[in-house]
Amino acid sequence: MSVSRFPLIPVRGIPLMSLIAKNWDSIWAFRPEPSDLLIATYPKAGTTWTQEIVDLLFHNGDAEACKRVPTHVRSPFLEIFCPPPIRSGLDQLKEMDPPRIIKTHLPFQLVPPGFWENKCKAIYVARNAKDNLVSYYHFDCMNMTQPDPGPWEGYIPKFMRGELAWGSWYDHVKGYWMEREKRNILYLFYEDLKENPRREVERIMRYLDLSVSDEVVSQIVELTSFKNMKENPMANYSCISAAVFDQSISPFMRKGEVGDWRNHFTPEQSKMFDEDYVKQMKEVNIPFRTLI
Ligand code: PPS
Repeated sequence: MSVSRFPLIPVRGIPLMSLIAKNWDSIWAFRPEPSDLLIATYPKAGTTWTQEIVDLLFHNGDAEACKRVPTHVRSPFLEIFCPPPIRSGLDQLKEMDPPRIIKTHLPFQLVPPGFWENKCKAIYVARNAKDNLVSYYHFDCMNMTQPDPGPWEGYIPKFMRGELAWGSWYDHVKGYWMEREKRNILYLFYEDLKENPRREVERIMRYLDLSVSDEVVSQIVELTSFKNMKENPMANYSCISAAVFDQSISPFMRKGEVGDWRNHFTPEQSKMFDEDYVKQMKEVNIPFRTLI
């Protein structure tokens, strides 16, 4: 299978993989069912973890049910268009019965309006900017469909300028934050999931109007630990061809830690990033922790 790194093409100012941009009209026209659930994130913020938690909640913690097929088949990626044999998210969704769990990295303003017209529930997960950037850098090294990240020192300014696929992290986290009350979006933080996964699983459960026993919550926490997901072939993306995700370069389940940015940023890079961060985030007070 031959795969090329796709260039990014802007859609309403947001750089997206060219195949997504070329199919944009069909993505924008997608009509969800009211029972569909959207899981929205900036790339590498904890999407797969949340997809796994939600799928297990929908299946009352049944591990076997959630190992039936890989994550991206159980909860399709709304906007993805890749060369065959990878199927588009829209084609997958056509064949699924509601309630469906749908993943997206689209910024709020690019989410098909049908989600809000139908009052679909949506979970947003945000991760602190520096860890998010580090995770995205390693992912761009191994994901052969996204532009080559180039050297680390040049990647930081690209992130700060919003030039990576799916655009600006700053605008992404702010966009959903500003709409969360009006649209009934559950806004979560990766760092909270790490700190107290049980509390966050219960929070998701209540938001989804589900009720599972304490024992099942414990089971879900255990099944979705980093270690277990890393070893689970239905969650660790090992079923995706190495021509697409070359996990010998960097595994999809890489470290799963808070604060790994300290192993990457020099003190100068950190200072430059922090000064810019204050400017880019000045109009909102999103309670990110562990940035400094
Ligand atoms: S993607 O490609 O955007 O869908 O990636 P996404 O799933 O959002 O993010 C991948 C990062 O999340 C980490 N991860 C986890 N951390 C802790 N616990 C669990 N269970 C878990 N599952 C995934 C994964 O390791 C990536 O982060 P890094 O920092 O690169 O390790």
